[in-house]
Amino acid sequence: MQGSFSYYNPTRLHFGEDALASLKEELGNFGENVMLVYGKGSIKQNGIYDQIIAILKDCGKRIFEDSGVMPNPTLDKVREGCRLAKANAIDLILAVGGGSCCDYAKAVSASTYCEEDPWEKYFLKGEAVANRIIPIGCVLTMAGTGSEMNGGSVITDSKTHLKVGRVFEAEVFPKFSILNPVFTFTLPKNQMVAGCFDIMSHLLEQYFSDMDDNTSDYLIEGLLRSLIHSSKVAVKDPRNYEARSNIMWIATWALNTLVAKGKTTDWMVHMIGHSISGYTDATHGMTLAAVSLPYYRHILPYGLAKFKRYAMNVWNVSPEGKTDEQIAQEGLATMEAFMRELGLVMSIKDLGVTPEMFEGIARGTFILKGGYKVLTHEEIINLLKESFV
Ligand code: NZQ
Ligand code: ZN
Repeated sequence: MQGSFSYYNPTRLHFGEDALASLKEELGNFGENVMLVYGKGSIKQNGIYDQIIAILKDCGKRIFEDSGVMPNPTLDKVREGCRLAKANAIDLILAVGGGSCCDYAKAVSASTYCEEDPWEKYFLKGEAVANRIIPIGCVLTMAGTGSEMNGGSVITDSKTHLKVGRVFEAEVFPKFSILNPVFTFTLPKNQMVAGCFDIMSHLLEQYFSDMDDNTSDYLIEGLLRSLIHSSKVAVKDPRNYEARSNIMWIATWALNTLVAKGKTTDWMVHMIGHSISGYTDATHGMTLAAVSLPYYRHILPYGLAKFKRYAMNVWNVSPEGKTDEQIAQEGLATMEAFMRELGLVMSIKDLGVTPEMFEGIARGTFILKGGYKVLTHEEIINLLKESFV
């Protein structure tokens, strides 16, 4: 059954090897003062920075640089960015980087003119944005989060270890995003595969909920099959344009709000993963990889028919002579083999988690109700123990 919904996505995408050529035209839609947001320097090493600066200057923009955005961007950094944006009457925030830069830009966009505490109002309470919003644009250099075409903004308060994801309204989505798959070629292998698994996890979080016949699930299965194929190619041949461009495009579709329409969604792997990052600052995709299999094996009995379908339609498991349980388990075993082939982190021990953190991580995990089993605090502790191998 396809549930009821409204669908609107305001982000204009420019995709392909020449996509950056569209930046000039896009910049014409905004005022003079541009805040250039980027991370810790990869864009300077791979030459993207120089290309962007040249275009901004050519368009007569005044450039205000805001660099040093860290993976898992922090609340302190967001507050600093808001001060910079306000002091310079910024007309456009241009985020150049991965999901962290893009998420950070959204947080600054919504928070700069907020007269209350934006962390409390927008991230902890999830209230609607009523103040002026600074438009943002994105030049993506890493495929994974889907932040280039959604309202997601995930920010960490390092004092409380709380990593909170806010989904902003359409006005905060990037006005445009530029996706050149070649820009992702310089990613280190561990980041590339973490991105691939992040994409897989987004698809699974939206797949493992509901049991009825829903078109979204067919779309997800197709995206997963393409992702699995292209990830295997990219691991062996990172400069393979076909594979890298497929991965970039799948990432956008995995989390640009389309495939969640008309169904409930789970997101518990992300909730546990976020809490792990809140304590360890570990790479997002790797936190998901480390908890996914213990979680899915745990909830399998509650969603057996869907896990069987997943095994057959995504992993080509043959059902002949097997019970439903055996088919479903074989699907997860095949997924595990794929994850090992990619070289993903499979244990939270390797992410810097210690047993002393279990209690805090479990407490910092937001418990959602859209999956096959609503987890208890004790179940989360048990999952952490299972991943601590
Ligand atoms: O700091 P820089 O120099 O930019 O280096 C980055 C960073 O070290 C590097 N990198 C990016 N592009 C590169 C590159 N290095 C070489 N060549 C390139 N082309 O990669 C590292 C990771 O970058 P980051 O932006 O942190 O990665 P990602 O895109 O995975 O973003 C992760 C953040 O997004 C959040 C995560 O929780 C995490 O905070 N998420 C956002 C979502 C959303 N907006 O919807 C959903 C996701 O589930 C996720 O939670
Ligand atoms: Zn994710």
